[in-house]
Amino acid sequence: MDKHISELIGHSRLRDRIVTAETAASWIKNGMTLGLSGFTRAGDAKAVPFALIEKAKQQHLKVNVYTGASLGSDVDKMMAEAGIVNKRLPFQADSFMRKKINEGEILFIDQHLSHTAELVRSDVLNPIDFAIVEAVSITEDGMIIPSTSVGNSSIFVKKARHIIVELNTAQPKELKGLHDIYEVGKQGEREPIPLTKVDDRIGTIGIPVDEDKIIGIVLTNQFDSPSTIVPPDAETSAIANHLIHFLRKEVAAGRLSEHLAPLQAGIGSVANAVLYGLLNSEFSNLEVYSEVLQDAVFDLIDAGKVRFASGCSITLSQNKMKEVYSNLDAYRDKLILRPQEISNHPEIVRRLGLISINTALEADIYGNINSTHVRGTNMMNGIGGSGDFARNARLTIFVTKSVAKNGAISSIVPFVSHVDHTEHDVDVIITEYGYADLRGLAPIERAPLIIENCAHPDYRPQLREYFKEALKRGGQTPHVLEKAFSWHVNYEKYGTMMEPKYQLQTQE
Ligand code: COA
Repeated sequence: MDKHISELIGHSRLRDRIVTAETAASWIKNGMTLGLSGFTRAGDAKAVPFALIEKAKQQHLKVNVYTGASLGSDVDKMMAEAGIVNKRLPFQADSFMRKKINEGEILFIDQHLSHTAELVRSDVLNPIDFAIVEAVSITEDGMIIPSTSVGNSSIFVKKARHIIVELNTAQPKELKGLHDIYEVGKQGEREPIPLTKVDDRIGTIGIPVDEDKIIGIVLTNQFDSPSTIVPPDAETSAIANHLIHFLRKEVAAGRLSEHLAPLQAGIGSVANAVLYGLLNSEFSNLEVYSEVLQDAVFDLIDAGKVRFASGCSITLSQNKMKEVYSNLDAYRDKLILRPQEISNHPEIVRRLGLISINTALEADIYGNINSTHVRGTNMMNGIGGSGDFARNARLTIFVTKSVAKNGAISSIVPFVSHVDHTEHDVDVIITEYGYADLRGLAPIERAPLIIENCAHPDYRPQLREYFKEALKRGGQTPHVLEKAFSWHVNYEKYGTMMEPKYQLQTQE
């Protein structure tokens, strides 16, 4: 036992700070602000949040919860069910928490994922009372070695009044050495970030910590929850094929080499499927500079297609998790995990010239993108890192299926009901029907391309009619304002965006 503990906690002075999750939770009081580790279900604090949920059964408790991104292990769900969350930022992806946000019971700040650290560092947000971070070990010189994500853990540890470390023995200890922790320093006083290549190491292997702030260490033994992405289907495979076709044209035009450029791919099933498309392509020696590393990235590494992948979390399906974590040494020279502020940093994204691929809920005929708000009102997950990348990438690509809800919703609409990414940032839109390369095109040139190449054929006549009528009104970006949101209104009223006369046409 002692040997085991000394391996986990190299720093001898910290070994007597082991406490139970219940004791740690007892320190957390109503109204406090917590900075939890965790990014897209990976590396989240697992024991103390649950003890806190139990505690809330006995006494009134509401806390502000800051994280890297979404939490796994149903922590977001159970915190929402227990009603203990006052304010949540910067991202979540749980259906029950989403419901509570949309009912106004949880205040949600939907934030660019690279921004949280800046706001915490400059004391704009509520000060963090407790950082609760998962780790695989604490080194002799007192550095916290994170587990499967870095997220915002390093800034939380730096700024929090107190720190609780969850040492999780279920996570592979071989993760030590994969992280690269770099502190950018204060705005206005900092140097350029010295990262010019995807595989550059610029920091330390762990999070440097003021040991006096660690007031409790909780031992846990629980795997991350596996990702819930579904395998590629006919539509997402078609999207991947269009992407490859587009990239081929870029190579043929001499704008990219066969190694392309460092790739960023967003969260979810569509983005994962799109990466899978590269498996059977001719592109080789690829690099990934992304946020979440999903299953597809590891398959691409295994196939020898990806040379190196830099991210801030590893989020895998059950089977892939077993495969990768039992063989981590094989990936040691091919992986780096960084703080999300660095993985998503605009300076780096622009410098490396990324190809950024993220998923839209809907796009409009001029190229604006809504990634977050269903019918402009209800939060889905959040903007996540998509804005960090979209604004700064060399090539900003948005993918989406052309329709949702069995065709009742067109993902191409006259006017998006919420704007996350403006027409100025969007280079290419891809659906299963094709792609629209919007670069160098004025709004009135973009609309026909998006309608004819990307919209579902059943919705094209209705979109053409809207655009025709809008053109008559003139303007740089023509609209029929009184009809611009009629598609969303129709869906709310009648359960479909399709107008009756076009419904008849599609039935014929
Ligand atoms: N209106 C309403 N609902 C829509 C819709 C639209 N225009 N388009 C899709 N949906 C629904 C789907 O029906 C599905 O609903 P379900 O969960 O009830 O089945 C859900 O949205 C997810 O759609 P899906 O096609 O399965 O895509 P996905 O799993 O790839 O997720 C996003 C798509 C947009 C929700 C997801 O990528 C996201 O949250 N993106 C924003 C954050 C981001 O890009 N982060 C990455 C930065 S690195």
